[in-house]
Amino acid sequence: MQLLNHQNRQKTYLIRYKKTSDMYQEKSILLSLLMILIFRACTSTDSITPTRPLEDGDVLVSSGESFALGFFSPRNSSNRYVGIWYNKVSEQTVVWVANRDRPITNSTGILSLDESGNLVLRESGQPFVFWSTNVTGVVGDGVSAQLLDSGNLVLSQGQNKEVYPWQSFDYPSNTILPGLKFGINKKTGFNRVATSWKASGNPGIGEYSFKMEIAGSPQMFLYKDTTPIWRAGSWTGHGWSGVPEMTQNYLFNVTYTDNNDEVSLVYLIRNSSIFSRLVVNESGEAQRLTWHEADRRWIGFWSAPKDLCDGYNHCGPFGLCDPYKSGTFECDCLPGYEPRSPQDWYLRDASGGCKRKVGTDVCKEGEGFVELARVKVPDTSTARVNMSLGTEACEGLCLRDCRCMAYAVADIRGGGRGCVTWYRDMIDTRTYSDGGQSFFIRVDAEELAKYSTKKQKRSPKRLFVTIGMPVILAGFIISVCICCYIRKKKANRRKREIGFGFSGSLKSMEGSFMDKDIGENVDLHVFDLSTIVAATNHFSPSNKLGEGGFGSVYKGKLLNGQEIAVKRLSQSSGQGMHEFTNEVTLIAKLQHRNLVRLLGYCFHKNEKMLIYEYLPNKGLDSFIFDQEKGSLLDWKKRFLIIRGIVRGLLYLHQDSRLRIIHRDLKASNVLLDADLNPKISDFGMAKIFGGDQDQAITRRVVGTYGYMSPEYAMEGLFSVKSDVYSFGILVLEIISGRKNNSYYLENSVNLIGHVWDLWKQDKALTVVDSSLGDAYDAREVLLCIHVGILCVQESATDRPTMTDVAFMLSNRETKLPTPNQPAYIFRQLNYGTDSTTASASGGVGSVYDTTITVVHAR
Ligand SMILES: *[C@@H]1O[C@H](CO)[C@@H](O)[C@H](O)[C@H]1NC(C)=O
Ligand SMILES: *[C@@H]1O[C@H](CO)[C@@H](O)[C@H](O)[C@H]1NC(C)=O
Ligand SMILES: *[C@@H]1O[C@H](CO)[C@@H](O)[C@H](O)[C@H]1NC(C)=O
Repeated sequence: MQLLNHQNRQKTYLIRYKKTSDMYQEKSILLSLLMILIFRACTSTDSITPTRPLEDGDVLVSSGESFALGFFSPRNSSNRYVGIWYNKVSEQTVVWVANRDRPITNSTGILSLDESGNLVLRESGQPFVFWSTNVTGVVGDGVSAQLLDSGNLVLSQGQNKEVYPWQSFDYPSNTILPGLKFGINKKTGFNRVATSWKASGNPGIGEYSFKMEIAGSPQMFLYKDTTPIWRAGSWTGHGWSGVPEMTQNYLFNVTYTDNNDEVSLVYLIRNSSIFSRLVVNESGEAQRLTWHEADRRWIGFWSAPKDLCDGYNHCGPFGLCDPYKSGTFECDCLPGYEPRSPQDWYLRDASGGCKRKVGTDVCKEGEGFVELARVKVPDTSTARVNMSLGTEACEGLCLRDCRCMAYAVADIRGGGRGCVTWYRDMIDTRTYSDGGQSFFIRVDAEELAKYSTKKQKRSPKRLFVTIGMPVILAGFIISVCICCYIRKKKANRRKREIGFGFSGSLKSMEGSFMDKDIGENVDLHVFDLSTIVAATNHFSPSNKLGEGGFGSVYKGKLLNGQEIAVKRLSQSSGQGMHEFTNEVTLIAKLQHRNLVRLLGYCFHKNEKMLIYEYLPNKGLDSFIFDQEKGSLLDWKKRFLIIRGIVRGLLYLHQDSRLRIIHRDLKASNVLLDADLNPKISDFGMAKIFGGDQDQAITRRVVGTYGYMSPEYAMEGLFSVKSDVYSFGILVLEIISGRKNNSYYLENSVNLIGHVWDLWKQDKALTVVDSSLGDAYDAREVLLCIHVGILCVQESATDRPTMTDVAFMLSNRETKLPTPNQPAYIFRQLNYGTDSTTASASGGVGSVYDTTITVVHAR
């Protein structure tokens, strides 16, 4: 290749010489010139010198042959331009153009070094300058223009090859090549700007430009004329905050400099045989392309803007653009703000932006910051930066200044360093599914409370005001209420004389079941969708543990080796992100050794997932309804399991501050840990699905036939007593090893009927699971059957509470009341269809019979 070029060049000179030389002296002069030319051609085909200009048809090739410089015509055009292109790339790819807006229309162009040391482009023999470099003081010998292998055309003088009086890299066209220092010189204000071509066949200066701005905190902008259309954001240490992809860097070595002299960014390619370029193209996009030799074409590597939210100021001042939001409109207001024009907003026009909510006022006691995770922070042009502050100091700085609206860490590497604070319109904020950084918005106490389930930052001084006071007050009120409640209950009990006979010991008994460690500081993890996808191997069917009415359950393994169970909620839950996270955070606070632990959740578009601890032993149903595994559970174990379930339920009903009614207690929702301790799962699902637990009547019936109390199944009435009913069924199932709704005998429709018949005949022990043989304590079993029957009585008021149940089971001498007729709801319900979907059991909330949801027409 190099040889070929040399030969071409020699021919050109030969022909030119012929035209002007004296025919007689031709031979000798030709010979001597040839010698000189061959010498020169061999040493400096990459340079223009005062004695050796570049004519149309000549080509300079850089020493490593990566780039070439010469005259070219764009596609579909006969205009001649001086430009630099890739020498080894088969597709004409021009990366720099000299005379962008002044094409030469014939082929007499000549690029030469004049006496002032400047490169000048003229038509041969004409005075008009089509293009020139504009440097002063580079006169004299030894001046040359050299095309470097990086694609940079440089003017250099004499021996000093390091400092270039002029270089094409300072005047990029539409392309930013690796090694090009892009940015601004703070001392001189000189800025390097990349501008698009006018059109694909016209390298003239187009309307789109890409440049760095240093107001506030330095940022990169893409402009259409003078209007910003995309903001790459400010530098976060890893990359531009608006280019989350920039964090992974195996291809590039990026150097960002921000000092007293300059702000600049240089991309270097780690592998010099890869050709990569960043182009501002004619359709107004920044585009990184890499050359694929095998396909002989440029392939898009990255581009921006990507989505609506990338559009500069898409949601107006104080707006927040979230492309992953469910619903149709991607715009939201920042926490504490509301649409300036609700009507326009409703019509999907967010350009008016948002304003501070009416009635809110910052710089009052109790205010704090709401954290938005994974965002591109607002335009920093008007922000202030202090690189010497840490995160805490930054928060303090913002809190002390009433005008400060928000803050963020400037450099997110390590623990974070530097402080950016905003005082004016916060423009162009958006969220990412991955990447971005945390952004802290100042809100008043009321707004703060709304986001209180999220991780927040508060100053310790004000912590007491924001949390302390209300908690103390609430605590006081709650304790007063509890006292009243217990007294009233005692009084009632005495009056009713139901005869459980434990009024005196009620208090101590409740205490013994009380779980003290109600976690205030729940460590609830928000998982990324990508993490869950990786952990479950793309929700691979082989990882599926079960499927229920609330969704499917998958087994997963995190990178750190921890095993998890992922409950992928069916999409019917109508909750938005805030309600969902609220409920999940509340439920995560329910911590008890007989409840399955919720580790975290994942929310992404329509995907809602709950992440639980993984229990290898699966559901109780897989033991008690299985001949073989059933024998693993002797009576002692079964009795322990029953008592464990009682403790878990008691905690849900009584001891937790939430008062959760499970509404879907069944064998498959009781999981066993490695030591066969029972753990209740799927609690709080009604809350997560938007059901109101405080309401006595619900329109949606959630539950499983066979476990549903009659009043709940028939009328949608639920209370703790509906759970008691389900518990009763469960106890009878544990004892008998039979499912309630798959138990048929001549005279009895189901297990309850069967047990009730035997109970009346004093033959109740005959229901005991045959796999237990005779190895059981008959008194204990009878006690449990008695309690079980009490729990399934037709009338909810007849049924004991879980507190009563706990007491009965731990005080065997107590005389239990005589049970009334149990409920036979199965006779009235057509349940023939519900138990057909028996599926693999195991994992969280595995089901052998499907949980159902019925909407009552009331
Ligand atoms: C060259 O530079 C001088 C001063 O630096 C300026 O006045 C002049 O307009 C420039 N000429 C061109 C063609 O850029
Ligand atoms: C550089 O890239 C070329 C072509 O893609 C490849 O063949 C070569 O192995 C790479 N070299 C290094 C050091 O990665
Ligand atoms: C500009 O870049 C975008 C993004 O890669 C691409 O879709 C578009 O076709 C490009 N336009 C031109 C004129 O090359």
